[in-house]
Amino acid sequence: MTEITERIYLFKWFERFWHWSQAVLIILMAITGFEIHGSYNLFGFHTAIDIHVYSAWILIVLWVFTIFWHLTTGEYKHYIPTWKGLTQQILYYMQGIFTGAPHPFHASAKAKHNPLQRIAYLLLKVMMIPLIWASGLLYLFYNDWAAWGLVELGLTLEQVAVVHVLAAFLLLLFLIAHLYLITTGATVLQFTKAMITGWEDVPVEHNKQPKL
Ligand code: HEM
Repeated sequence: MTEITERIYLFKWFERFWHWSQAVLIILMAITGFEIHGSYNLFGFHTAIDIHVYSAWILIVLWVFTIFWHLTTGEYKHYIPTWKGLTQQILYYMQGIFTGAPHPFHASAKAKHNPLQRIAYLLLKVMMIPLIWASGLLYLFYNDWAAWGLVELGLTLEQVAVVHVLAAFLLLLFLIAHLYLITTGATVLQFTKAMITGWEDVPVEHNKQPKL
């Protein structure tokens, strides 16, 4: 039976802009970061540092605008965690997805993300990104530590490097899971198309899902 769908406008232009700019910058920073770390040689050590630091500043400006946008438009509400539908979503990813069961959640303008996405994106925003941001800035301003009194507090470059690399691995893990999960729509490209065009086709019959 063909499912009747309706087309809804899910992702506004600024949201798509920051999503894709952030994706490109984080991938570029992961590539240059692991070169700085010594994992391989691609751009050359010094060029890798230059690209990493320039991208960092662009990313910081983007994040500042994005935080402002979330707060002023009320879009932050899409990331408030909820228990409703969480178990159904976990069971779906563990079982239903492999047996062709219907997706327990369909996006709407009021709830863009399923309960698991809410938690994952919230952790990304309040844990992984601040961790990489703070450790990266400390790395960048190493020469000012003495003036800021951080050396007396016992902070070392090794500690900051460990936190920064750990945060980078967490971001990479997030990226891998994200790339897998975005292929699990009705078609492989359904969710990606929505993030490009802003529009998503959702089944009309989705009144069984819990209201988030
Ligand atoms: C606000 C964001 C960021 C800032 C300010 C920042 C800054 C820096 C700085 C200053 C360095 C050291 C460069 C040097 O040795 O001179 C560095 C290294 C590194 N960065 Fe970032 N970075 C940021 C985001 C990222 C992201 C998003 C990733 C990866 C997903 C990443 C991965 C790495 C890695 C793996 C290293 C090598 C660390 C080491 O081996 O000690 N960084 N970063």
